[in-house]
Amino acid sequence: MKPQFTSRPRRLRHSPALRNMVRETELNASDFIYPLFVRHGENVRAEIKSMPGIYQFSVDQLAQEAREVFELGIPAVILFGIPAEKDSHGSENFAKDGIVQQAIHVIKAAVPELIVVTDVCMCEYTDHGHCGIINDGSNPNLPKGYVLNDPTLEVLAKVAVSHAQAGADIIAPSGMMDGMVKGIRSALDVAGFEHLPILSYSVKYASAFYGPFREAAESPPQFGDRRTHQMDPANVREALRESALDVNEGADMLMVKPALSYLDVIHRVHTSFPELPLVAYNVSGEYAMVKAASANGWLDERAVTLEMLTSIKRAGADMIITYHAKDAARWIRDPRES
Ligand code: PBG
Repeated sequence: MKPQFTSRPRRLRHSPALRNMVRETELNASDFIYPLFVRHGENVRAEIKSMPGIYQFSVDQLAQEAREVFELGIPAVILFGIPAEKDSHGSENFAKDGIVQQAIHVIKAAVPELIVVTDVCMCEYTDHGHCGIINDGSNPNLPKGYVLNDPTLEVLAKVAVSHAQAGADIIAPSGMMDGMVKGIRSALDVAGFEHLPILSYSVKYASAFYGPFREAAESPPQFGDRRTHQMDPANVREALRESALDVNEGADMLMVKPALSYLDVIHRVHTSFPELPLVAYNVSGEYAMVKAASANGWLDERAVTLEMLTSIKRAGADMIITYHAKDAARWIRDPRES
């Protein structure tokens, strides 16, 4: 029998103290992971046009930025590198003095407690802008330009080990290749990094919300798109299959990306895999929309941002990668008088 409710929910809303007491979801700065874009050069702090408040930094700027992030109570950053040169295999990606490797050294030296997550993918490093090695025609059975799964895995394993050697704390492969987590896991183990966790971008949709990121990371595909390896936004059962595969391959944490149009996916993955921490990626396009509308005075940036981030947590995310992290951490720390 259904319970008969005779009390009124409204009774629990009439004062701020009471509302705080019965609140089901609490947003904390400790939930956030802040993305950082790193590039070569000196004294570079270049704002990304479509992402006001977000910058590409040169390595010398990172110590200060890392301190600021950590002092706000944000426990982790995720790094994206813009290499000096791109080529078909993305060689700088696994170079000892690559841009991300340099960035890890500087951040860990400045703030050892700040957790450094590294995105392991090829799209920022390849001249064609795709997330792997592509078929140049040598495999006649596959379409030209198709991302070749298995050769890509070897490169990703090299990148992961190189990030680990530079001092990364969490390896986050984002390329959605089959067997990616397993390949990276065994490469890390062999290299002596069996303690490093893998955060897999297990559920990544082929989304138009990544638009501003491609400006930030200078990584738009030069032809075609990513629909052969990223998921169709129309699917959700497939998200559970993708997650199950990654769990079986040894993923320590799962991710759903983007977040806001995929709250149902976050909820489904959370309920299907309650044992694993779940990360949601509140992506560049989601950030850009809020910034643009707020700049026009059409939305209250602070209220809207906190509402969105709370909804992502309510849906089931344990952690949120978000460009709003620093602002949100300040807003949570200094509540509005009202
Ligand atoms: C791949 C990667 C992308 C994003 C994060 N990692 C681009 C893509 O998948 O095409 C996008 C994140 C965002 O839009 O904020 N290295």
